[in-house]
Amino acid sequence: MTQIIRDLTTWQTFRNKIPQASSLGFVPTMGNLHAGHASLLRQSVQENTQTVLSIFVNPTQFNDQNDLAHYPRTEEQDVAMARDLKVDAVLIPSVDLMYPQGYRYQVQENNISQYLEGEMRPGHFSGMLTVVLKLLQLVRATHAYFGEKDYQQLLLVQGLVQDFFIDTKIMACPIVRMPEGLPLSSRNSRLSAEDLKQASVFSKILQQHLPIPEIKQQLTEQGFTVEYVEEKFNRRLGAVKFKNVRLIDNV
Ligand code: PAF
Repeated sequence: MTQIIRDLTTWQTFRNKIPQASSLGFVPTMGNLHAGHASLLRQSVQENTQTVLSIFVNPTQFNDQNDLAHYPRTEEQDVAMARDLKVDAVLIPSVDLMYPQGYRYQVQENNISQYLEGEMRPGHFSGMLTVVLKLLQLVRATHAYFGEKDYQQLLLVQGLVQDFFIDTKIMACPIVRMPEGLPLSSRNSRLSAEDLKQASVFSKILQQHLPIPEIKQQLTEQGFTVEYVEEKFNRRLGAVKFKNVRLIDNV
């Protein structure tokens, strides 16, 4: 049975009942779950004695207040997916519970959070790292699952657990793509089926074995506004805007 938990006392009671020897898998999300999240949840359920999903739309990681206001909230569907996948608990805390003193303490990383996504979205990574630290402390999972789609996020979370001595193993999970090739993302739901087909050209172009200036030129010609295309961490990472929707990918 899937238990829905909204307050932290109930959560701590649930957590304290889990025996020391058993493993607890954790999938942190902002809700609006899609097949990419389902694959993280499936892997966690398969690999652990118990699995907890968190749904928390974290206000501090939105550099754009309009984006926060329009972030899709689909709790009922998300909980239904958790039940289908036999997730043991869904933690849905409020902003007040997660930030009892407001945004008083913040995690600031001073290296890779400063460029690419970090440069395009000021404050985003501090907000993300702060909430991930809070969630990891609360959940005390043995394993936490993160998708490779947000590759910088994954690297930053790996660094966070190392630097703050957090006893949770970070599990990197491969990108789940639409049949057309675009990575699954909650933001995709803002595009029509026709637009999604056109948007998928982004991933096809990014994957081509061509020098970066040519990649950028092709993207521009296809109607994308290029934010960055760069090779770092043994990958090629890109971010574009298409019909006012921000898309990121890495290969
Ligand atoms: O990737 C996300 O959905 C969010 O950044 C996360 C890790 C749940 C933190 O709010």
